[in-house]
Parts: sequence; C-alpha cells; structure tokens
Amino acid sequence: MNRITPPISKTVLVTGGAGYIGSHACKVLARAGYLPIAFDNLCAGHKSAVLWGPLYEGDVNDRHGLLKAFEIYRPEAVFHFAAHAYVGESVSDPAKYYRNNFSGSLTLLEAMNDFDIKKLIFSSTCATYGSPTYLPIDESHPKNPINPYGASKLMTERMLADFEIAHDLKWVALRYFNAAGADENCDVGENHAIETHLIPLLFDSATGKIGHINIFGSDYETRDGTCVRDYVHVTDLADAHLKSLIYLEQGGVSDVFNLGVSHGFSVLEVILEAEKIIGKKIPYKFVSRRAGDPAALIGDGSKANAILGWRPAHSSLRNILETAWKWYCKNT
Ligand code: UFG
Repeated sequence: MNRITPPISKTVLVTGGAGYIGSHACKVLARAGYLPIAFDNLCAGHKSAVLWGPLYEGDVNDRHGLLKAFEIYRPEAVFHFAAHAYVGESVSDPAKYYRNNFSGSLTLLEAMNDFDIKKLIFSSTCATYGSPTYLPIDESHPKNPINPYGASKLMTERMLADFEIAHDLKWVALRYFNAAGADENCDVGENHAIETHLIPLLFDSATGKIGHINIFGSDYETRDGTCVRDYVHVTDLADAHLKSLIYLEQGGVSDVFNLGVSHGFSVLEVILEAEKIIGKKIPYKFVSRRAGDPAALIGDGSKANAILGWRPAHSSLRNILETAWKWYCKNT
C-alpha cells in the first residue's frame, strides 16, 4: 500500500496542466511536495488555472518544445492529460483526434525517451471499452471502442506497452469514468469553451443561461429510461495520478486501472439531486438519443483500490454537485 511521503521538490511535467483534470492534478502534486510544470498549448486550458508551478506554453506535437521544457525542468515523470475529449467531434473529425491524442502521445514518448524520462501516468478513458457487455466494467472487459476518441486512447495504451518493451518505460494508464465536480476550495474547476457535459449544462438551465437542458433519450433499458453514468470527482481522479506515481516510484509494474466508483446515476437522478442543492427546478425536455451513448457505464474501481490504495472519498453525487455548483457560482 502506498504511503504519501513528500519528496524534495521532484518535478513532474503535466501535459494539459492548465485544463480541467490536469489543473487538479497539479494541486494534488504540489500538496504532496512535487513541483508540477504545466505544459499546455492553452487551446482548451486557462492560464488562470496554473497556480502551483510554472506554465510552459507548448504543444505535445512539438518535439522541440517538449525537449526544451525537459531541459529546463528535468522532470522525473510525466502526467499526460493533453488531449481532445469530445466524443461526437471525434466521429466527425477523426484526424484531429488521431493527430493530437495518438500522434501527440507518440511525440511525447519519443521526447521522453531522448531525455531518459522513464515514468508516465496516462489519462485514458472508459471509452476504450465501447458498449459494455457486462457491468460493472472491470479492466479485462473487451476493448472495442465505438468512436475515434476511445480508439485514439486505446492505441496510445498499446504504444505505452511497446515502449516499455523497447525502452523500459514504466507507465500507468487510468481509465476514467465520468469526471465531474470541482476543487473543494474553488481554486480550479470545469471551464470548457464549448460545454457539452451534463452537470454544467444543468446549471446553465437552472440559472436561465439556456432555456432548458435536452435529455438525450428516455427509452433506455435503465431504471427510469435515461442513461446511467458513474460520476467520479475530479479531485479523486487527480489523487489516483499521485498514487500511481508513488506506485511506480516504489517499483510497481506498469498497469491499467479503472477509475469508477462502481455505482451509477441516471440523468433524471442527477437532475433531482441538483435541484435539491440549487433549490430551484431545472427545466428539461426529452429529445432523441445522442449517437454513441451506451445505456449505462459503470466502472469497477476495485483494482485501483487494492493495488494503488485509491479511495474515491470525494465522489458522492452530493459532493460532486455541491463543489461543481460552488465553482459555477464563483465563475459566472
Ligand atoms: N446528457 C444529456 N444532455 C446533455 C448532456 C448530456 O442528456 O445535454 C447525458 C448523456 O446522454 C449522458 C450523460 O448525460 O448519458 C453524461 O453525458 P456527458 O456528456 O456529461 O458525459 P459522457 O458520458 O458523454 O462523456 C464522458 C466523458 C468522455 C468519455 C465518455 C465515455 O466526458 O470524455 O464519458 O463514454 F469519453
């Protein structure tokens, strides 16, 4: 089991460190005594989210920029978040996803190899599994991604294994279920230019920023007909990265872990809980299903629990919604 013993300011390069999950990971790293270097091209990230170490503006497709950042900061490890993450967009523009998510990861691995950096924690996704054949999904569930986003992440996982064989890279891939919530002190939170995620859109609907939220599908084979998802607090996701790093530092073998809490909520259940927290009705309308949405996605996180000592302590739906709402109110 991992003990969190603060090292003497070891640096970790965090690609996508100005983004939603990356910025929370920087906070967790800093609290544990590491110096996070946010490496971000700011296409989706925000300078204002870089609070715990320097920002290096760069793109993961630019090997020269990566080498420069490695030369300056000499990181012992890399957390790799930088990626595009809109499932629907990945279907209409696959090149964008293979270029940034897959090819960018290849460029990163080559640059790491040039600098002899041997530890990587990779931000992967439950979209690598595709439509589930059983629930909750464990790590040995078949991997049949149904969109280029999931495929680009699965291909990168495969590449990590090949780099280990050839170059002794040690890696952990973390397959997130639905990232949600915000930092408990509201230092950072979710801030997407184009918002497609359920929880921020519920708040937009409650506050009148949009007329109503569309619920995609009411005829799924779930308890109330709406899709069920496993919501995991972003701080718990960030914490899993730190635990993975410590695991590798202590000689752990490269591996893949699900980050899910083994329980799902339907869209209507999320709306009901959000109404209690906000104290207002959330206008919604049922519309047809969104392409590529499986009825239910629930992740079995017991392997991360047993091997990494991961405890998703912030991931009750109430805490996810309360922290997300606090962040929303502060920022709108
Ligand atoms: N939903 C609505 N209306 C909306 C937005 C979402 O009904 O306006 C529903 C979706 O159909 C889904 C649930 O709310 O059932 C959650 O949707 P999100 O868009 O918030 O999240 P997704 O489950 O689509 O996507 C997440 C991550 C992706 C990841 C995917 C894996 O954001 O990066 O899970 O399937 F790939």
